[in-house]
Amino acid sequence: MNKSNIQILDKKSLNKSKQSAKITGEVLLALKQFIKPGIKTIEIENMVLAEIKERNSKPAFQGYNNYPFATCISVNEDFVHGFPSDRILLEGDIVTVDFGVIFEKMYSDSAYTYPVGQISQKNMDFLDCVWDSLYSSIEQAKPGKKTGDIGFATQEVLLRKGYNPSAELFGHGIGTILHGEPLIPNFGTKGTGETLSSNQCIAIEIMASQGNTKTYTKSDGWTVVTQDHSLTAHYEHTVVVNDPPMILTDCELWSKKPSIIFK
Ligand code: MF3
Ligand code: CO
Repeated sequence: MNKSNIQILDKKSLNKSKQSAKITGEVLLALKQFIKPGIKTIEIENMVLAEIKERNSKPAFQGYNNYPFATCISVNEDFVHGFPSDRILLEGDIVTVDFGVIFEKMYSDSAYTYPVGQISQKNMDFLDCVWDSLYSSIEQAKPGKKTGDIGFATQEVLLRKGYNPSAELFGHGIGTILHGEPLIPNFGTKGTGETLSSNQCIAIEIMASQGNTKTYTKSDGWTVVTQDHSLTAHYEHTVVVNDPPMILTDCELWSKKPSIIFK
């Protein structure tokens, strides 16, 4: 297997990746105030574009495989890769904003599922669990651990509460490119898969459904939706493998679980 695009960061590129990730974190934090019932998802895209520009960086997704936007905005049963649009967010919706930036050639990538206004206790519990699953998975991002250790941690936290990890969508290596090796699964067996090394940069992303994880893709060619239209959430950080692991996209938004941040 060709492992040439595994992303091991030297000191200089780590520094740049930290700056790139800091920008992504700041913009996700700014969205906390911005996302309210009544706004259109295209307004989120425009806000993110302006914030990225202001910070002298570029959107990581726009143009990647011809993806047309800076953000993926996925509402309720939209799993991933939703297009920003004139859709108006309603009280009780849950909306994922996924995006990244390129700063001095280094990529960062993060996603957060926001409650829109007041949401049901059931859905807030779901957000907390998927968020917990991300942090539990990140604990495995240590030198010598394997991708299966991460996937095992992901599925353990979700399945315990009756939620389902995606079998089709993966995290990935990241650094000088958006999608490097290895794939980081949301499921797995301890001690299997690719071995992680010190200073390796990866995007760990948890994509989970309240129901079935089978999907179809909308006619726009991108938006992935659950077949049974069950609700989904997606939390993602750019992480450097270390002991302890380094979360590059960390910011105040992530300091507590969603139910506390959005109380
Ligand atoms: N955030 C997605 C990922 O983590 C990237 C979206 S693919 C793109 O892999 F084409 F939209 F950029
Ligand atoms: Co990603």
